[in-house]
Amino acid sequence: MQIKTKNIFQVQFIFVKVCLPTFAEDLKFMARKSFFIETYGCQMNFSDSEIVASVLKDNLYEFEPDLKKANLILLNTCSIRDHAEQRVINRLKHLKALKGKNRGLIVGLLGCMAERMKEELFEGGVVDLVAGPDSYRELPRLIESIKSGNRAFNIVLSAEETYADIKPVRINSNGISAFISIMRGCQNYCSYCVVPYTRGKERSRQPETIVAEAVDLFSRGFREITLLGQNVNSYYYNSVNFPKLMMMVAQINPALRVRFATSHPKDLSDELIQVIASRPNICKSIHLPLQSGSNAMLKLMNRRYTREYYLSRVEAIYKAIPDCGISTDIITGFCSETDADHCDTLSAMQLARFDYAFMFKYSERAGTAAADKLNDNVAEDIKTTRLNEIIAMQQQLSLESNQKDMGKLMEVLVEGTSKRSKKQLTGRTSQNKVVVFNDTTHRGGDYVVVRITDCTSATLKGEVEE
Ligand code: SAH
Ligand code: SF4
Ligand code: F3S
Repeated sequence: MQIKTKNIFQVQFIFVKVCLPTFAEDLKFMARKSFFIETYGCQMNFSDSEIVASVLKDNLYEFEPDLKKANLILLNTCSIRDHAEQRVINRLKHLKALKGKNRGLIVGLLGCMAERMKEELFEGGVVDLVAGPDSYRELPRLIESIKSGNRAFNIVLSAEETYADIKPVRINSNGISAFISIMRGCQNYCSYCVVPYTRGKERSRQPETIVAEAVDLFSRGFREITLLGQNVNSYYYNSVNFPKLMMMVAQINPALRVRFATSHPKDLSDELIQVIASRPNICKSIHLPLQSGSNAMLKLMNRRYTREYYLSRVEAIYKAIPDCGISTDIITGFCSETDADHCDTLSAMQLARFDYAFMFKYSERAGTAAADKLNDNVAEDIKTTRLNEIIAMQQQLSLESNQKDMGKLMEVLVEGTSKRSKKQLTGRTSQNKVVVFNDTTHRGGDYVVVRITDCTSATLKGEVEE
């Protein structure tokens, strides 16, 4: 009997000794409110993550850059192509293992996948929270409700939310460049695109709040801001249109560079081109997605412009701003695209002389007009061949554009030391081209005049002009 009691004691002692530290660690892990956030997709999503960080910080959550140490892991997701969603689904498999180890770990899915896939995301048992792009103010309340054993869900889209009063916490920034969201949503309904369904109706943010945010960033040492929206040319708030807003922001200080993304070709106005031409600190760089150079494809895509109209806008830009950088987005292999349509895209790229392009294979998205009414009938291997031809064409155009810069003096905003060498700095020109040059005297945020001496298709190289 005595021996038995002793054994029980021994067993209990061992139990306490083995389990106490892990239990205590679990408690410590759960008591600290820390979050990690990983962002997928477009610049708008990166900007949104900074709004999320602000909402959480106001509710006493600390930002934790190490995923393993956070007790709230948020993935801010993208649905634009199937590949973007697959990356997140694979990430969830990794988080499942982490969840097994950390009792109390909460996993939340935010952004466009949350909006598109809804409750389906709870399947698999990893996700506790699903919150769409207009519900980020609700996050603290949603997270609290999970702690009492529930799953939390809010995907209501708003016609008004712009998060205008929230001061983003710049977790994605290098301290020199920052994004400012000026509008949300899109109602252009390009037939292939999921964004109008995941982001809701277009709405613009009050201009005074945008200017105040830019003034604050400049006073904290930032030297470049990018005004963001799915279609910034549609910005409109109480008689302030996008060119007027650009002017208001550009007047803050000549040392603050202003960029914007993205503009739809159908409403790239002469007024906007004139504003860009008129202010040295408005960057000479326009991202103008072409999507296809074929009129038949543009019609099926519901882009509401023709190849001729697009190219006439490009000529208007070059006429007013001869040194303007123009970049684009191209989708290849859209429904029923023929070899002739593809050749039209290649020739339009040559005529527009793009400096840079983001190039994608068409990826059918459920619920869009193209998925409902058209046939995703270009074979995968043909999509691949056409994409490769488009990439090769763009590399050639980028190289030609960079070769034209040889010998020129360019003002570069320094972003930091180059990855290759601590003796080299890297930065961007007004045209958004990356420049690398030998220099140890300047720092991030400085403007340096560099003479271009060499180039590849991706980078300019140069020397500081004394
Ligand atoms: N609002 C921006 C684009 C946002 S999406 C604009 O209209 O300019 C970024 C790019 O993704 C698009 O320009 C398009 O080239 C690409 N894209 C959108 N939907 C796609 C799809 N279903 N398949 C492949 N690429 C797509
Ligand atoms: Fe999508 Fe077209 Fe809106 Fe761009 S403009 S987000 S491509 S629907
Ligand atoms: Fe992706 Fe949504 Fe942006 S679908 S591209 S994260 S608006």
